[in-house]
Amino acid sequence: MKKLFIKTYGCQMNAYDSARMADLLAPLGYATTDEAKGADMVIFNTCHVRERATEKVYSELGRMKALKRAKPDMLVTVAGCTAQAEGAEIVARAPVVDLVVGPQSYHRLPEMIARAARQAGHVLETDFPALEKFDVIEGVGPQSVSDTGISAFLTVQEGCDKFCTFCVVPYTRGPEHSRSPEQIIAEARQLSARGAREIVLLGQNVNAYRGTAADGKDWNLARLIQAIADIKDVSRIRYTTSHPRDMDDTLIAAHGNIEKLMPMLHLPVQSGSDTVLAAMNRQHTADEYRELIGRLRAARHDIVFSSDFIVGFPGESDVDFEATMTLVRDVTFAQCFSFKYSPRPGTPAAAAKKLVAEAIKTERLSALQALLLQQQDDANRTAIGKTMAVLFEKPGRKNGQLVGRTPYLQPVHVQGSHEMIGRIADVKIAALTANSLHGALTAKDFETA
Ligand code: SAH
Ligand code: SF4
Ligand code: F3S
Repeated sequence: MKKLFIKTYGCQMNAYDSARMADLLAPLGYATTDEAKGADMVIFNTCHVRERATEKVYSELGRMKALKRAKPDMLVTVAGCTAQAEGAEIVARAPVVDLVVGPQSYHRLPEMIARAARQAGHVLETDFPALEKFDVIEGVGPQSVSDTGISAFLTVQEGCDKFCTFCVVPYTRGPEHSRSPEQIIAEARQLSARGAREIVLLGQNVNAYRGTAADGKDWNLARLIQAIADIKDVSRIRYTTSHPRDMDDTLIAAHGNIEKLMPMLHLPVQSGSDTVLAAMNRQHTADEYRELIGRLRAARHDIVFSSDFIVGFPGESDVDFEATMTLVRDVTFAQCFSFKYSPRPGTPAAAAKKLVAEAIKTERLSALQALLLQQQDDANRTAIGKTMAVLFEKPGRKNGQLVGRTPYLQPVHVQGSHEMIGRIADVKIAALTANSLHGALTAKDFETA
């Protein structure tokens, strides 16, 4: 058996890709390990979205030099979005690298490994043959039950045609492309057969999903969600990440009609200022976003929202930032990610002249995060005393402890037996520590899987 070490950065789509790379390499005799030392192959699946994410790969590669000296036949691979964006620079800066493979070409890894064995120097693949990739992946399929997990990712759509002015994703992941409904449903069935109870549909713009079925008909995301909800053992469905522009009426209605669709939606807004939203090319106003939230709440009264924010976008004034704070107060979010703007090479915003000073970015980020944390804490606190349906995913750190999640993705710790993993049961929530809820299984019998 050869040892394969994979380290994943970035979003859930990278996590999905890392699992598929492991699947692809398994027939070649590679089994995953959790340390780079002594591995026959090391893969860094990289993210390029902010500067700090990109820097990480270079420091990782620095550390690989000594490991490779100790084991000269080790193959060092850089995959993911940084590989796509700066593959040539990576091999120039880090000669320790053998293989560079982009997010749309990793299905070629087995062939690249063979080429690396034949030739000196590195092998680089950064094409965008998305269709071909999914056809190859389909043949391999997701790995074992334990790797699948109780909550499993399933990429349904890739790439982005939105071109927000700050973002590298359209360049690193290429144009929007949707997998066929048949291929996705087959994969969902396979995941379910391997123990997954929750399916998280993934895409950079997942709600822009437009798959063409074998009969030539186009499916949107709402239709796809309904088809997956029809799989008996799939109990929970989520999807991420959505763009506000692509929330169509059928998808909004699906939140009201499909019980298995969880009442939590990640809907990045980035800013509450119309000026900044326009400069970002988000193609909607702050009020349009508020109105959309209202329609979703009307469709499903208990839905909660999470979002992404960028502070310090070029030209963002105090007034603009205040508009973001106002939007947050108006909407109220259950959980959010917020970042300082990071200029990315090749994106239109990187050429902007009116930059926001670092100290102001820091100030704004901490004000925004304080507000968001307060809202998150308030949302968690409302769970205390309630009985919530928890899907148990794994054992906790303490003996006899289980960890699961509520429909709102809140982690819940209870005392319970191992057989509960993969099942949904009612938990009476008693306490909150940091971001975790604690409670006890109710006497009422749990639903059986
Ligand atoms: N497709 C998703 C987001 C992809 S990137 C969407 O449309 O929202 C994830 C998040 O990273 C973004 O929502 C944004 O908040 C953040 N991000 C992207 N580029 C960034 C940059 N240059 N600087 C800071 N944050 C950025
Ligand atoms: Fe990036 Fe915008 Fe596309 Fe999201 S929608 S991936 S932020 S360009
Ligand atoms: Fe990062 Fe690429 Fe995902 S840039 S956020 S890994 S799409």
